[in-house]
Amino acid sequence: MPVESTEIVAPAPCVQGRIGVPGDKSISHRYALIAALATGTSRFEGFSTGVDAAATLGCLRQLGVTIRERTDADSLSVEVEGRGWRGLSAPDAALDAANSGTTMRLLTGALAAHRFTTTLTGDASLRRRPMARVIDPLSQMGARVEAPGGRPPLSVTGADLTAIDYRTAVPSAQVKSAVLLAGLHAAGRTIVTEPAPTRDHTERALGAFGAHVLYGPGWAAVDRSAAMRAIAARVPGDPSAAAYWAVAAAALPGSEVEITGVGLNPSRLAFLDVLQRAGAQIDADADEIEAGEPVGRLRVRHGTMRPLVILPEEVPGLIDELPALAVLGVLGGGLTVTGAGELRVKESDRITALVTGLCALGADARELPDGFVIAGGRPLRGGRADAAGDHRLAMAFAIAALGAESESTVAGAESVDVSYPGFFATLRSLCG
Ligand code: S3P
Repeated sequence: MPVESTEIVAPAPCVQGRIGVPGDKSISHRYALIAALATGTSRFEGFSTGVDAAATLGCLRQLGVTIRERTDADSLSVEVEGRGWRGLSAPDAALDAANSGTTMRLLTGALAAHRFTTTLTGDASLRRRPMARVIDPLSQMGARVEAPGGRPPLSVTGADLTAIDYRTAVPSAQVKSAVLLAGLHAAGRTIVTEPAPTRDHTERALGAFGAHVLYGPGWAAVDRSAAMRAIAARVPGDPSAAAYWAVAAAALPGSEVEITGVGLNPSRLAFLDVLQRAGAQIDADADEIEAGEPVGRLRVRHGTMRPLVILPEEVPGLIDELPALAVLGVLGGGLTVTGAGELRVKESDRITALVTGLCALGADARELPDGFVIAGGRPLRGGRADAAGDHRLAMAFAIAALGAESESTVAGAESVDVSYPGFFATLRSLCG
């Protein structure tokens, strides 16, 4: 259990500077996992330094994968010795996915094809999260996957899999990815269609490793791919981490922030449209493609903030950025979000915990069953907000606190380590 810590955040008139952000969490999980199923040694630079990605590496080690890590000036390099197709070995204890839903759901997909039984568990937050969404398709493919009441601990017994043509009930890149990772090992072509497009990192990564994959917005297909080969790649900076600085720059007059080396995959950038709609000035230039992922520079400048409405159809593309965007509502012209019931089954109940924390800082916010309403144009008093063990809430409250009239306290601040160790140091550097 990490030790609970608090951070005091002082008000700041503006944020200014040029920074990088940690390696993308979603991509780091996928690279490590797919590299483990490929042949040869893969090498990754700029790997996520967060606890979630470390959980994936820990689980893979328990499955017999040799992994070497080297940290150099805050940048993490990781080498993964591939075990080859269906090459993972039975662990001698339960795997601990810690706080990471991506670790648990994606690994379950890969393990569905391995002929042994694995138990996966996690921390109290992960043990509350729904797993039926992966149990259903993977069972249809022939694996035995069980979890009492649909929540972890989850046990998966792999089998010879059959391809399926599957429509996911909720838009979820984790579910899509679990089915595709199982589909790599299944006889025939596995197809996944989604009610709305989600991030496509698994598809791009599978292509880079040489799997037979086809995809477009809202669908993906994979054939049995027994010959994936190791790659070397730099992990792009995480746009979901950049979103906090983008929101702070958009909302605080006189601000300008430039983020370099950040991932600019269009399936992750819906938050930039929202920022622009609210009045921010945005420049995003992709100048490189790294293992199929566009990477470049993002510059955000303050503009006069307008009231915002986020519609249900926009939610899947913004799912991780909604806590940051809520702060845009608080410091800007207000925000209404509906169709976001999925937020209730994230690392915390992100509707209740977000509204509670923002109100504790002095915001006028209220819950809806599937979203929230925030009144804008009202000065924030400052106060003490509890992150409820959720990294994205700790970061959102810290950004909100920059725009408050007096000092604030973020309780449970250590949770930022899940995706963004060093968040508070960067916060201070941008506030001069
Ligand atoms: C992720 C997908 C999303 C997102 C999570 C990371 C991924 O979850 O919220 O932080 O890496 O695939 P869902 O698939 O549950 O929407």
